[in-house]
Amino acid sequence: MARDNWSSRSTFILASIGSAVGLGNAWRFPGLAAKHGGGAFLLVYLAALFLLGIPLLAMEIAMGRRINQGVPGTLRTINKKAENIGWIAVSNGLFISVYYAVVFAWVILMFFLSFKFAGFTGAEDGIEQASGLWLETIKTTGTTSGYGTISFPVLGCLILAWGSCYYCIRNGSQSVGKVVKYTVSLPVICLIILAIRGITMPGAGEGIAKLFIPDWTALSDSTLWVDAIGQVFYSLSVAMAIMFAYGSYLKKDANVAVDTVIIALADMLISVLAAIVMFSTMAGTGMLDNMTASGISTAFIVYPQAIVNLTNSPVLNAIFAFVFYFCLITLAIDSLFSIVEGTTTAISDKFKINKKKTTIIMCVIEFVIGIFFCTGAGLAWLDIVDNFINSYTLVLTGILEAVAVGWFFKTGKVLEEINRNADGFKMPVGWFYISIKVITPVVLSLLFIWNIVSLFKNGGIYGAADGYSLSANIIGGWLIIALSVFSGAIVKLIVLHMKKKGYREDDRTWDDHQGSEETT
Ligand code: PHE
Repeated sequence: MARDNWSSRSTFILASIGSAVGLGNAWRFPGLAAKHGGGAFLLVYLAALFLLGIPLLAMEIAMGRRINQGVPGTLRTINKKAENIGWIAVSNGLFISVYYAVVFAWVILMFFLSFKFAGFTGAEDGIEQASGLWLETIKTTGTTSGYGTISFPVLGCLILAWGSCYYCIRNGSQSVGKVVKYTVSLPVICLIILAIRGITMPGAGEGIAKLFIPDWTALSDSTLWVDAIGQVFYSLSVAMAIMFAYGSYLKKDANVAVDTVIIALADMLISVLAAIVMFSTMAGTGMLDNMTASGISTAFIVYPQAIVNLTNSPVLNAIFAFVFYFCLITLAIDSLFSIVEGTTTAISDKFKINKKKTTIIMCVIEFVIGIFFCTGAGLAWLDIVDNFINSYTLVLTGILEAVAVGWFFKTGKVLEEINRNADGFKMPVGWFYISIKVITPVVLSLLFIWNIVSLFKNGGIYGAADGYSLSANIIGGWLIIALSVFSGAIVKLIVLHMKKKGYREDDRTWDDHQGSEETT
């Protein structure tokens, strides 16, 4: 069966930008910039993007393109054991997609509720009503107990979220290619509209100054470095099985070296644009100091408060609320479907199951698990799972990928693949080698250790101060990590069982896959 291919170079680039540019750009990046002295954070972010982000991204795309398989199958060709790393990446994707879809559902919910902003008037009352809107509708208890209640509006939106996700990926890269034109351009247009409103507010200049003028003292805070590196990593959608899969649908003539830089820079620029929106709007509404590093509260509590004071007309404010949440919808959808594509590509390639069937089954399973996050305890559990995956398994995957390629494989072969069709710009040998062999493993290992040490310094229970229980930490954190780490072993058991029924594993190596071959 011929493998799907992207219909054009720009389709691939747009789909990858769509994946990279997500809710993380809209709220996590501005929140972190606010926490860490604006321009100082931007500079460290930019350095980390070049030193760690771009080489790793190029590596994932180029390897996927050569082997034409999802991440486990691709890594298997360099060493059979490396396949396990691929399954950790796939597990990251599976877990993230379950809760990312719930966050997406909240965004859809707020989009539908935007008309309510037309009724929020009066400085004090309006702000209070706006900030309560989301919290009340999702019926959260704020803690890890309270599974008894469920928010039906959220559940309804979750159905919509998975339905629209499935619709976009029902025919793989073909249907993805058709929607990404819109899901990448629309949020940019919305952000520009919101930025114009923000910048033209009296007092906005103070926010812009805070964003761009570096506060050098912030550099001495080690959490700035930790946050900047983590954000580069999360934002580029690496270590989640996505970019291997997207690369695997590339034709052999693709120019990975240049496309990677375009994707990474577009991602960064859109983050900066979102930060301009946030900083100017917050300054203009007198709430600059209310910006939090936590993205979720920025999007669902703090920004709604700002909307109330965006203009003097409540109706116009409601329109801005629509634009804002529509923007988030278009930002989130292509990240969600990319992560589902990453996991379904891996599973259907490995087990030779029809891709469409895999997609339907996975969407249904992930939806059903996600219902748990629609309960009163959902928000706290979501926060825990998100924290543990971001702090540990994503970072671990990055380390293992870099070590596998940098130390246990010929790094030059991967670089050759990145630069295969490069004309003009080529990824320099020194940049790639130093990054993959040294900087990425060392820096990410430090990040990993830092995260563990901070957890135990704070008592060992994530979110204890907010009432998160130990059992929720064990199940939502440690168990998830264990499942990810042992996912390769679980797959092996399944394969053993399937082999009895005549299934044959693909044992071709990197060199068996000729760079120029047509796919099978
Ligand atoms: N880059 C995405 C973002 O910033 C991260 C992501 C991708 C999350 C895909 C989930 C799914 O939001």
